[in-house]
Amino acid sequence: MKSYYLTTPIYYPSDNLHIGHTYCTVAADSIKRYKKLQGYDVFFTTGTDEHGQKIQEKAKEAGLEPKEYVDNILVSIKELWEKLEIDYDQFRRSTDPEHEEQVQKIFQKLYDKGEIYKSEYEGYYCTPCESFWTESQLDEGHKCPDCGRETKISKEESYFFRLSKYRDKLLELYEKNPEFLEPLSRKKEMVSNFLKDGLDDLSVTRSSFDWGVKVPFDEDHVIYVWVDALSCYLTAIGYGFDEEKFNKYWPANVHLVGKEIVRFHAIIWPALLMALDIPLPKKIFGHGWILFDNDKMSKSKGNVVYPEPIIDLYGTDALKYFLLREFSFGSDGSFTKEKFMKRLNSDLANDLGNLVSRTISMVDKYNDLYLPEAHQITEIDQDLIDLATTTSQKVDQAMDHFQFSNALEEIWNLIRRSNKYIDETTPWILAKNEEDRERLDTVLYNLVESLRIISILIKPFISHTSDSIRTALNLKTEVKWDDANTWGLSQAGEKLKKIKALFPRLDIEKEIERLDEANHALAEKRQAEKATWQHEAGGEDKEDKKEENSKEKITIDDFSKVEIKTALIEEVEDHPNADRLYVLKVKIGDERRQIVTNIKSQFSKEYLKGKKIMVVTNLKPMKFRGLESDGMILAAEDKDGKISLATTFEDLADGTIVG
Ligand code: MSP
Repeated sequence: MKSYYLTTPIYYPSDNLHIGHTYCTVAADSIKRYKKLQGYDVFFTTGTDEHGQKIQEKAKEAGLEPKEYVDNILVSIKELWEKLEIDYDQFRRSTDPEHEEQVQKIFQKLYDKGEIYKSEYEGYYCTPCESFWTESQLDEGHKCPDCGRETKISKEESYFFRLSKYRDKLLELYEKNPEFLEPLSRKKEMVSNFLKDGLDDLSVTRSSFDWGVKVPFDEDHVIYVWVDALSCYLTAIGYGFDEEKFNKYWPANVHLVGKEIVRFHAIIWPALLMALDIPLPKKIFGHGWILFDNDKMSKSKGNVVYPEPIIDLYGTDALKYFLLREFSFGSDGSFTKEKFMKRLNSDLANDLGNLVSRTISMVDKYNDLYLPEAHQITEIDQDLIDLATTTSQKVDQAMDHFQFSNALEEIWNLIRRSNKYIDETTPWILAKNEEDRERLDTVLYNLVESLRIISILIKPFISHTSDSIRTALNLKTEVKWDDANTWGLSQAGEKLKKIKALFPRLDIEKEIERLDEANHALAEKRQAEKATWQHEAGGEDKEDKKEENSKEKITIDDFSKVEIKTALIEEVEDHPNADRLYVLKVKIGDERRQIVTNIKSQFSKEYLKGKKIMVVTNLKPMKFRGLESDGMILAAEDKDGKISLATTFEDLADGTIVG
């Protein structure tokens, strides 16, 4: 059997993985399922990148040993992959002893071959990204070009890898193997940003901290995390200790990585492998980012969308379908909840859901759920048959280049064509005339046959939906990819089964609110859980404070955009749909407004009524559980959760501008 090895990056341990992080694993999982259907023996590696200064610092802040700290976080990462049903074969932790041992051997081998030498390093270091930059590569203000955070000058004795000598070999590699680095734009970026003007040797050890794999012949140094992490791709399949397995799967068919880490995979990694005389992976694919309102998702920006509530409310298939269909894998895309809900309604509920329910209910109504036989084929039938039996090839072409969105679009063309076929053939009219019976039977058969093919084509992407359709068609849930290009495999006389609607239509506005609440509740739960294990360990949560403090400075012009006024609370009512919320009626000068707020747990209605508070008055109104909130009250909350409302010392008229 042909083997196929694919990897996602080895993730930094974070208790805050968002839907952007799931993009790569979801894509890798679909590739695995697709390749398996094509008869490949697939091995899929993911894992965690657990060494380095950043982890050591975070662990210290939390009052834990680094390993304990990552052990805690790992639970939520593994739970997430389980929830998303990511079918990986090896979860490689960079702290696994068998991995650490091999990393030392790799380092020793490089040293013995003269690929590594000792010198002194001075450069700009970005701790969160664990990377050194030269001055010319930095953004304005000596900021890291990847994450935009401050870098610091770091000088230390270090071992260096002779990366510079691989520049020409790398250029030749790109030239001779146009498929090595995709999409094409990434290659251009690597050449113009890093290779064109020559490469510097790479510092591959650190001595300013010790949480890492020790250099075997110099215990004062730990091996650079990127050398350590990239080696996970090798050790996950037995490099150095399971030769048979390693030879079976290496070289990797593809490393899927986000665009900001292409540099490490397309420059450092092939150079290291060349130095080690290990064959190179066949492809590095640098996918785009999922942005949120055109910004990168991050906890400090407060725009994180978690995958768990989406899965709980709409299922894994809905999330996987959306991620793979909405965005083009090589480019950036912006996530919005509206886009998500609209896709669910249009593609899953309307197109696919309707095709399934219409087909099954017609077979039920006109033939007691028994699949009738097909008779004479007409031109319209042939048109459907041609499309149905050629779609798998189009999917193959798209999947050869990891164009998930195009692959799904091809499948949806067939789904939409099948729905149109119902409208064109009007089975409900055929059913009225006994002499049209054979025609009706043929139409029903063709629809079921088309659905059978669709159930195969969607299997790598949305396998539960495929299973449900196949259950309705009384077919085994395992599929054979080749059966998607053969017409006529459904057996007449088979009894179909009624199933419940695959995807209910959503009331978009209501669902966005529901999702917002679930997302918010999860963020709070995570915070509380973290506080608990940090508290138990005697540490404190400095991470969030640090994020708060590191919020970018704004100018006076930015601040002057915010309008704050004093307001008089005239009425306080319970929110009709939410136990924890109040609805305030406030007077702001000549204006009256409604504000929904969550201060109910601390203040009685009587206490609030008649109080003068401060309100941000030029925020866009938002709905909370169906009620509009026009403004935001200002309040402070201490670490014990005690809230105090912002007010003025002197009694000023409501509507007075604060600033
Ligand atoms: N530890 C390194 C990888 C070492 S691989 C030998 C690392 N880890 S990471 O946790 O920061 O990132 C893991 C992956 O998540 C990266 O490929 C990164 O691009 C991806 N993403 C993080 N945020 C993302 C989005 N918002 N959108 C898409 N992918 C994103 O880098």
